[in-house]
Amino acid sequence: MNKLVFKKVNSLSFAKEIYEISIDPVSLKFSKNTKKFSFSSHLKWLKKIISSKKNNIFLFKKHRKIIGFIILKKKIKYYYLSWAINPKLRGFSYGKKMLRSFIKRHPRKYIAEIKDNNYISKKLCLKCGFKFLKKRKKYNVYSTN
Ligand SMILES: CC(C)(COP(=O)(O)OP(=O)(O)OC[C@H]1O[C@@H](n2cnc3c(N)ncnc32)[C@H](O)[C@@H]1OP(=O)(O)O)[C@@H](O)C(=O)NCCC(=O)NCCS
Repeated sequence: MNKLVFKKVNSLSFAKEIYEISIDPVSLKFSKNTKKFSFSSHLKWLKKIISSKKNNIFLFKKHRKIIGFIILKKKIKYYYLSWAINPKLRGFSYGKKMLRSFIKRHPRKYIAEIKDNNYISKKLCLKCGFKFLKKRKKYNVYSTN
């Protein structure tokens, strides 16, 4: 059986795959920056994350297939998570598997800020141990314990 595996991204080897998931219209709609961006600006962003001590990106694979990624950002006090699944593989429980396995391996208090109209991610949060904390503008804020 092929397991879902993940590792911290520390090179640009999968830059194209991460880009394709990121510029999918649904991913853009639910991200903070909703404007489409070029591959070269994506590369700049990715290089910055790779060299950062505070931010990381984790890539999830099953066999050789890219399933999705989780972005981890450490801001002053808390760790923030955001995520996306390969558009072709949505709705097959990979979101749940990805988030649960990440939290299991790196247990911490995490915050997720989800747009109010992102029903699937709000549901995903609740299924993965997050609790609703509060509303902040157009975002719903969730946290793990
Ligand atoms: C949000 C996202 C990661 C979910 O991943 P996924 O693999 O499709 O989700 P799952 O299959 O694990 O489903 C999670 C829950 O949502 C439900 N769900 C999934 N797709 C759904 C759909 N199209 N309509 C209604 N419910 C849906 C599932 O049934 C499941 O709930 P359940 O356990 O009660 O059955 C994925 O849709 C995505 O990449 N979206 C764009 C990026 C995004 O919104 N990121 C969040 C910014 S923080």
